[in-house]
Amino acid sequence: MTLQLLPTRRAFLADDPIFALNAEAQARKAGGESVLNATVGALLDDSGQLVILETVMDLWRELTALEVAPYAPIAGDPGFLKALVRRHWPLVPSSGAACATPGGSGALAISLRNFLEPGQSLLTAAPFWSPYGTLAAENGVALATAPWPRAGEALDTGAWAAGLQALMKAQGRILLWLNDPCHNPTGRSLSPADRACLAGLLREAATRGPVTLLLDFAYLDYARDPGAVAAALADYEALGAEGEVLVGASLSISKSLTLYGARCGALAFPWRNEPTLQAALTQSCRGTWSNCARAPQSLVVRLAQEGRAQEHLSAEHRHWSEVLSHRAAALDEAMVAEGMEALHWAGGFFVCVPVVEPTEVCARMQADGVFTVPLPEGLRVGLCGMRAAEAPRFAQALRRALVPR
Ligand SMILES: Cc1ncc(COP(=O)(O)O)c(C=O)c1O
Repeated sequence: MTLQLLPTRRAFLADDPIFALNAEAQARKAGGESVLNATVGALLDDSGQLVILETVMDLWRELTALEVAPYAPIAGDPGFLKALVRRHWPLVPSSGAACATPGGSGALAISLRNFLEPGQSLLTAAPFWSPYGTLAAENGVALATAPWPRAGEALDTGAWAAGLQALMKAQGRILLWLNDPCHNPTGRSLSPADRACLAGLLREAATRGPVTLLLDFAYLDYARDPGAVAAALADYEALGAEGEVLVGASLSISKSLTLYGARCGALAFPWRNEPTLQAALTQSCRGTWSNCARAPQSLVVRLAQEGRAQEHLSAEHRHWSEVLSHRAAALDEAMVAEGMEALHWAGGFFVCVPVVEPTEVCARMQADGVFTVPLPEGLRVGLCGMRAAEAPRFAQALRRALVPR
């Protein structure tokens, strides 16, 4: 026992639970077993190889020494910030108050330190990407949830209104992380009606205290219907432009450019150009990582300047969205064939099967060589890492696991 380590820092798991499950699946496969590994969180092709977008790698190889080696400005290259924000909202005049961050994770982390006091609670939808809990804990805040709608159901406005009211009453301010559209882990997006309802609740809450809506965009380029994604972005743009609710976004190139390891993203408030907010973000950067990597920022700037590269990239995104869509359709068909409900994927890398006792069901499936990630609400299934042809095996193993042997 390292006595120097604070007592409050001694009880963590040795490995991230998702990475640990993935490692076990891989070890069993290496041992000769037939394994269906749906724990993976990166996009794999049908032969199990990591998908790397060619357009992006071509741009990467063109980067010059001066686009790679110097420090980037502390808050990030302004050209990068503008280009990344405009990939989402092409018409915004500027990136507003913004800073570069190491991926979306960095943006989420510094939002906690700037919009909540220690000990207060962040609000998000459940189920959620499990590192949200770690990010909250590491930044000294608690995590409150309201339910993400189940497939085919509307947003539970009563629960959301109650959650918002309780937090506003308890702490006088609200920070909501919303991973919409293309939600991880359900693979579904809010409907336009749900989104309008939520906007109404946030506007109402904003009459009683400061409300920040932070949109966590990780998977928008991988969607069944890009038009629905564009409509969602337009709705959020309208809410941000009103100015009552502070609307910002956690942006990342991990998935969108398959540059997971480049650790690049941004926290941006495109409709708030305020020096005090900008100074607070810059201060957080300086006090956490000083500057982010220059090379991926330079790449995003190059991409914004090269129309041909943008066309190629969107063709690649369309291709992989169709692959994911095909995998999701195969899974729905297999689920229905086994007497279970379809999951209705709309975008992102995952779907979530609602089950009771997820840990037990997950363990029983592992006995059949099928690996998923247990969440409190069900099983996270990585469409990004499985083949359409594996869907029947998955559904059969799930059906067997739902009936304890
Ligand atoms: C919902 C969600 N938000 C944020 C992230 C952050 O990713 P990164 O820090 O690599 O940008 C992820 C990554 O898996 C995610 O799934």
